[in-house]
Amino acid sequence: MSKRFTSDGLRFAAEPAYNDTFTRLTRLAMESVQGYVLGSDPKAGRRLAVQDAHFAEVSELLLDELAVRSLDRVVELGCGSGSLSKRIYRRLGIGGTLVSVDRSEGLLKQATALLEGTGPAVFVPTLADLTELGPWIDGAGVVVGRAVLHHVPMAELFVGRLRTRLAPGTRVGFIEPDFRSVLGRIAVLEAEGRHDLEPLRVWAWVINTLYQVNRISPDVGATLARTMETAGFQKVKADWRECRSDDLMTENLVMFYDEVRERLGALGLMTSEEITRQQKLMQALGRNAPAAWASFRVTAIA
Ligand SMILES: C[S@@+](CC[C@H](N)C(=O)[O-])C[C@H]1O[C@@H](n2cnc3c(N)ncnc32)[C@H](O)[C@@H]1O
Repeated sequence: MSKRFTSDGLRFAAEPAYNDTFTRLTRLAMESVQGYVLGSDPKAGRRLAVQDAHFAEVSELLLDELAVRSLDRVVELGCGSGSLSKRIYRRLGIGGTLVSVDRSEGLLKQATALLEGTGPAVFVPTLADLTELGPWIDGAGVVVGRAVLHHVPMAELFVGRLRTRLAPGTRVGFIEPDFRSVLGRIAVLEAEGRHDLEPLRVWAWVINTLYQVNRISPDVGATLARTMETAGFQKVKADWRECRSDDLMTENLVMFYDEVRERLGALGLMTSEEITRQQKLMQALGRNAPAAWASFRVTAIA
């Protein structure tokens, strides 16, 4: 099979080849990925904890907007290693319940360990596929998800089905990453001579392509508010803000490459050598970089 990507891995070499390539990559992705596209071991948990620092401010704003209170029953979709769970849990008191759902047993165990003994509320770690909206959703007063919808194929359909499973008045909020909007600025800066920004452009290409070939929803945040409106949610509010641009950001991107190194190789998206090169360029960038991504925050009432 001839190589379909240019050497910098950025553009499909020829449009007619795109569909063939996409089909092949999708098949390979389906064969090689079972479940979560990223990692689920303790190292992945550490990356999620680093990511929590990026989302710290918007996460607290989200919980403020949802007015999470002591006695609430909060259902958290895709809790991962528990960084957002911890923020929710500390707002709950005796009589409050946090049901945190994830399909990765490893990450769910990390979340459970993180919360153990940190508060009086009931914590219910729940191993489940969130798209099935099982009995764990019943009775939710608040539903929250951070960086999870973009891992769901055709996430808009899930958002609509979710609305039908919630009692009127349920407060719902999501934070979703935006891997695209900031590329406008990155492209301009690069064109004006900031050649050191190559690793940000390549990383954006990699994460978007990886998610696309896995048929998940990397762009869901951009249209989430409108989707929630068409699904009949009320009082939909949306906000967008850039994530921090410092050495923690570049560390996060370097760790991402470690998590998906083998998968990118198996898909023929990027060789291990190229990944190592990109990691070095990223580390050299350090804090001298514009934001590589941003986030959408959307809240509504069912
Ligand atoms: C990027 S992580 C975010 C974790 C956490 N919400 C946070 O912000 O730190 C996405 C999480 O969603 C979980 N996930 C993805 N699809 C899922 C599904 N269909 N059912 C349950 N969990 C899912 C993954 O296992 C992973 O833990």
